[in-house]
Amino acid sequence: MEVKNRRKYLFRTYGCQMNEHDTEIMEGMLNELGYAPTTTEEDADFIIFNTCSVRENADNKVFGEIGRMKNLKRSNPNMLLALCGCMAQQQTVVDRILKSYPQVDMVFGTHNIHKLPELIEQAFLSKETIIDVWQTEGEIVENLPRARKDGLKAWVTIMYGCNNFCTYCIVPHTRGRERSRSFENIITEIKQLKDEGYKEVTLLGQNVNSYGNDLEDNVDFPTLLKEIDKIGINRIRFMTSHPKDFTDELMDVIKNSENICEQIHLPFQAGSDEVLKRMNRKHSREWYLDKINAIKNNIPNVALSTDIIVGFPGETDEQFEKTLDMVRQVEFDIAYTFIYSPRTGTPAANLEDNISLSDKKRRLQALIQTQNDISKKKNLEYVNKTVEVLVEGYSKTNTDKLTGRTRTNKVVNFFGEDTLIGQLVNIRIETAKTWSLEGVIDNDGK
Ligand code: SAH
Ligand code: SF4
Ligand code: F3S
Repeated sequence: MEVKNRRKYLFRTYGCQMNEHDTEIMEGMLNELGYAPTTTEEDADFIIFNTCSVRENADNKVFGEIGRMKNLKRSNPNMLLALCGCMAQQQTVVDRILKSYPQVDMVFGTHNIHKLPELIEQAFLSKETIIDVWQTEGEIVENLPRARKDGLKAWVTIMYGCNNFCTYCIVPHTRGRERSRSFENIITEIKQLKDEGYKEVTLLGQNVNSYGNDLEDNVDFPTLLKEIDKIGINRIRFMTSHPKDFTDELMDVIKNSENICEQIHLPFQAGSDEVLKRMNRKHSREWYLDKINAIKNNIPNVALSTDIIVGFPGETDEQFEKTLDMVRQVEFDIAYTFIYSPRTGTPAANLEDNISLSDKKRRLQALIQTQNDISKKKNLEYVNKTVEVLVEGYSKTNTDKLTGRTRTNKVVNFFGEDTLIGQLVNIRIETAKTWSLEGVIDNDGK
């Protein structure tokens, strides 16, 4: 008897780690249903676009890709096509799919990915596009399978949603209000990861510092971190922190911990107080700089990263200069820089988007240039030092070298045996580039 081929799935995932992790969960569910992964579109029976809505160009890219799927579906009429993630949470997107993209079989949102198996069944039975988008978040669903890939580094969500409502940002609209996972569920998941041999965990949330605010028992983020530190996983990271909630207590926990990495991502968005106010960021320039100084004084060799938006409505050249000045003062290791993009449904979308695209691009270029010089300078500080590297595999760009990351999250490439993959290795840094370091194994290194 002929063995029936397993149906194959392919994810196209956009946006942040939240989405990447949701994809891992959906892959886990599909594996349990007997599906197998594929990397080629022609081979796929189920293609899922897990989308991001944070900036307009992300939206446009996805519509382009879905348009292209029409031909693929013609040659494989049994193929299912799904759109989920943050774009799906917007009615305008759903309307556009219904009107112009009949090739899409199902649309579901960020609050009900656990319903994927049911939705697949419905889609097989229906000729119409299935729409199942929840406007409000439900209870947190635990114990979903997760298809984590490398056995080394894992994402663990500690909270969902965001209550901050920065005026430019769509996330509170696509991910709902803040909901914290229970302390016990998080600890159990991380203990299990430790037993499975994972060496690194990144705690995920739009604003991890407000973990626990919605829970009845008296737990907060520093308490949670302290408990996770005790589990003994070698490396603990977390993102993202909101500057307004980055407390001294949190700093102390990091400083006194064994396993929490010296790496902090703290977005400041803009250097001018007037712009920060219009962004509803709830922190001032001075507050931010004070935090950074305290962090630098308390956590030696800390690596700092940030997010910055240029060209927010009404931002003058002088106000942008304050952003540049901030970057020079702090000397971040990395900055993720974005051109402001108006998002329908956010308060800032009602402000006149009065900075021309060429001005926005000019500001972005100036910012990138300034930051690149600083990134290189920060990396040069590593030369002749020995650092601990968690080896992830072979480098994609330089395939005869191994690649891994430092505790400060710097990429390090070096020659070594593949038996080192998955290990913590001491590397003496010899060369610094803007985005990576090159070194040699240092067996006597400290
Ligand atoms: N919760 C995180 C990240 C949110 S989205 C945080 O608050 O830090 C990631 C980044 O995208 C933001 O930090 C911001 O810099 C950028 N971003 C969000 N909305 C944007 C918009 N409308 N236009 C341009 N950049 C935006
Ligand atoms: Fe968006 Fe602000 Fe929430 Fe971050 S803190 S997700 S930028 S609203
Ligand atoms: Fe994008 Fe949604 Fe993340 S809008 S940045 S995928 S929370």
